[in-house]
Amino acid sequence: MTYSRIAGLGFYVPETMVTNHDLEKYMDTSDEWIRERSGIETRHFFTEGKDTVSKMGARASEVAMEKAGVTPEEIDFIVFATLSPDYNFPGSGVLLQRELPFRNIGALDVRTQCTGFIYGLSVADQFIKSGMYKNVLVVGSEIQSNILEKSTRNRDFAVLFGDGAGAAVVQATDNEDSRILSTHLHSEGKYAEDLLLEHPGSNLKNRMSTKIIEEGKHLPYMKGSAVFKHAVTRFPEAINEALDANNMTKDDIDMLVPHQANLRISEAVRRKMGLDEDKVYNNIQRYGNTTAATIPIALSELDEAGRLKKGDVICLAAFGSGFTWASCLLKW
Ligand code: ACO
Repeated sequence: MTYSRIAGLGFYVPETMVTNHDLEKYMDTSDEWIRERSGIETRHFFTEGKDTVSKMGARASEVAMEKAGVTPEEIDFIVFATLSPDYNFPGSGVLLQRELPFRNIGALDVRTQCTGFIYGLSVADQFIKSGMYKNVLVVGSEIQSNILEKSTRNRDFAVLFGDGAGAAVVQATDNEDSRILSTHLHSEGKYAEDLLLEHPGSNLKNRMSTKIIEEGKHLPYMKGSAVFKHAVTRFPEAINEALDANNMTKDDIDMLVPHQANLRISEAVRRKMGLDEDKVYNNIQRYGNTTAATIPIALSELDEAGRLKKGDVICLAAFGSGFTWASCLLKW
């Protein structure tokens, strides 16, 4: 039987660190408001001329491939998750393909926002289990500081997000004790407009006019309270679905890595699940919400710190724009 496992992880964050006090210079906000509402203390913003979403993905991928002991020539397929692609089209997957010496392999962009990395893992897992590919690179990378306006009209959104990238090499294995156990994917499109960025969508009237900018349609919109309410329900649902599918209980979880949306959401989920603090990993304090990149960055940090032990049961869970939600249970 062929399974898949994460064989190597890597991440990259741009060098410019931005504190809450730095944001106070651009908008009517405060360090206290941001910390209390989200837990965020700092985030990183990209450097123009150096960082692009695909280049950042490439830096994270280089580390992941080195850790996995595979060369770019050995990668069979790229899955690239992002809500902030370099171009509206083509996708960032093909831009990553040209960054490193890959063969002319397939490259697929995943557009499910905060759940993008788990959706990507699921795609990789299916391709590997079917026998089609042996090594799939799954990347989550975002430059969000450039799609936000650092101004008061955008402040509820702008203070929460950061830039960063993470990557995983997903590899075929026959070891049933160290593998992806299952993935679970969901969506509920009736809430699409509760967390969206309209421009440059083809649905938008007068999409080439300056009115778009005056009306702020080029900026993301978020119904914060609705996101919060749905997130604290869907996260536990997704985690329990993964546990049930594998005849496990929350006591089997060695580490929960939730998408880093907001520390208050992670805390509410931890309490609802009845998990101890040391069983849930959070790093949103340092990076903000990096959307598709939060989970691979968190996993990379745990790996580097030696906190992922052979046989550990790791649960990944995410909720975000769409709405979409997803989970993945794996044995390290
Ligand atoms: N700084 C200061 N004040 C602000 C800011 C800011 N950055 N943003 C909004 N405000 C003001 C509003 O204008 C409003 O003022 P008013 O009361 O005078 O009208 C007030 O703060 C809103 O305060 P609250 O309603 O108490 O804010 P709340 O506690 O609901 O927090 C927040 C807002 C943080 C957006 C909350 O709804 C939330 O956490 N939602 C979840 C959203 C989230 O985490 N999204 C992550 C991205 S999506 C994802 O990854 C799943």
